[in-house]
Amino acid sequence: MQRIAIFPGSFDPFTRGHEALVGQALRLFDRVIIGIGNNLEKSGLLTVENRRRLIADLYADEPRIEARIYTGLTGDFARQAGACAILRGVRNTTDFEYERTMEAANHRIYPDITTVMLFTPSEVADIASSTVREVLAFGRTVDEFMPRGIHIEDYL
Ligand code: PNS
Repeated sequence: MQRIAIFPGSFDPFTRGHEALVGQALRLFDRVIIGIGNNLEKSGLLTVENRRRLIADLYADEPRIEARIYTGLTGDFARQAGACAILRGVRNTTDFEYERTMEAANHRIYPDITTVMLFTPSEVADIASSTVREVLAFGRTVDEFMPRGIHIEDYL
């Protein structure tokens, strides 16, 4: 049986930090489905379709990774994907507090799906999508935040 994990998030945009977590996840699971949560009330920097395209381009040669857009509860998306785990990354204690609450809600509703926390490697633990958006808003390049070979201008 294949062990499938979903990695949910906003990914606006997907960064080098997310990439490091996906690398770790591939050592634990057979397949990783990156789920782009479509928050209908929030418009982002990138459209959800362009977020998906960026991730699909990055992993074009990696058949074990897929990017999908979803709406609704992450637990339902995990079940529909046939996943046994929800992956989330933790950089610091602020992340931890938020993740702890989300895990508890998901565990209550979907006890069959396990949330797996991965620690973001320290060399990329400073990277946040919100920082990328801010730096970009001031007109500076953000290449050092993005996975190598990915240029955000192609997805704006
Ligand atoms: O990258 P983010 O913004 O931290 O991602 C948050 C996301 C999309 C994973 C989270 O908001 C989410 O799961 N939203 C869907 C609603 C849901 O399932 N909430 C958790 C249980 S109440």
